[in-house]
Amino acid sequence: MATERTLSIIKPDATNRNLTGKINAKFEDAGLRIVAQKRIHLSPAQAGKFYEVHAERPFYGELCEFMASAPVVVQVLEGEGAIAKNREVMGATNPADAAAGTIRAEFALSVGENSVHGSDAPETAANEIAFFFSGLELVG
Ligand code: PPS
Repeated sequence: MATERTLSIIKPDATNRNLTGKINAKFEDAGLRIVAQKRIHLSPAQAGKFYEVHAERPFYGELCEFMASAPVVVQVLEGEGAIAKNREVMGATNPADAAAGTIRAEFALSVGENSVHGSDAPETAANEIAFFFSGLELVG
């Protein structure tokens, strides 16, 4: 399987509860390497741009407001099949459906406040990484 990179976000519900280290340990235990990482506070407009694919969905406003409510940690995770592996480690979007041991099963509060975001496909991953990181911040 090829080495891939994927974009991960540790969301406000998790940064508020000081869970960054515990979540990063889950990634590292699964063989994902954190190759870039920074803590930022998104504006509502920046959150809106990142999630614009969901603009027509009823929860869009709530999602953007939540993502701008406190700092987030944006990261690039690298590893073999990193996109699928990260989604496996995260668990299902709704924590009620997330498998035991996954980040969302252990830490998420609700389908909206679900602790982490991860890219869902190679093209999305490339676009989402470029949204947050410049070439200078990505060591080869
Ligand atoms: S997925 O994984 O993309 O299929 O999930 P999806 O259900 O399409 O949800 C996309 C993102 O929207 C968030 N979400 C919500 N936020 C607030 N309120 C409600 N009701 C809600 N439902 C879904 C969900 O956490 C997903 O966020 P990301 O960051 O993409 O994981």
